[in-house]
Amino acid sequence: MPTLILVRGIQASGKSKFAKAWAAADPENRVRVNRDDIRHMISGGPKTLLSRDLERLVSRIERSTALAALRSGRDVIIDGMNLRPEYVRPWLSLGYPFSFVDFPVSLDLALARNEARGGHVSEDAIRATFARYTPDGRMPEPPLVHPLPRKDRR
Ligand SMILES: Nc1ncnc2c1ncn2[C@@H]1O[C@H](COP(=O)(O)OP(=O)(O)OP(=O)(O)O)[C@@H](O)[C@H]1O
Ligand SMILES: [Mg+2]
Repeated sequence: MPTLILVRGIQASGKSKFAKAWAAADPENRVRVNRDDIRHMISGGPKTLLSRDLERLVSRIERSTALAALRSGRDVIIDGMNLRPEYVRPWLSLGYPFSFVDFPVSLDLALARNEARGGHVSEDAIRATFARYTPDGRMPEPPLVHPLPRKDRR
């Protein structure tokens, strides 16, 4: 049964580096899906937040890409922050086996890595995410879900 991996962590914690290496280690059977890259793909611009309407489109592309890969029998990794229950719940509800890979880095480490990669995320944004979701250095509890029967999945 194909498996869904959700990578979790604040900005610059190392999610994408890990996810790219994971997918590259077995490209025939593993697929990486990343909404920053989808934003870049559809807008041609930087990977920052788009309009509300376009963000909805990004979500639909993200979901349909992941579902197509899962239905083709491949394992899928989603390397967004995956800290907000409203983003995580729909993935867990797909009914595929899932697991989390967590990057509970310190604020200082995330800030240093962000600097080293060119500082394209604002320091304030990283501080805010850390304070909101991992203030004690621990990941939030994942939301509880009731998987849909297979026939109801879209
Ligand atoms: N284990 C590691 N050791 C050293 N450097 C790392 C490690 N993991 C990631 N990095 C570096 O830290 C920077 C941030 O990593 P990455 O882009 O993977 O973070 P991210 O969690 O995907 O960030 P974002 O949420 O902004 O997409 C990159 O320059 C990456 O090369
Ligand atoms: Mg990333």
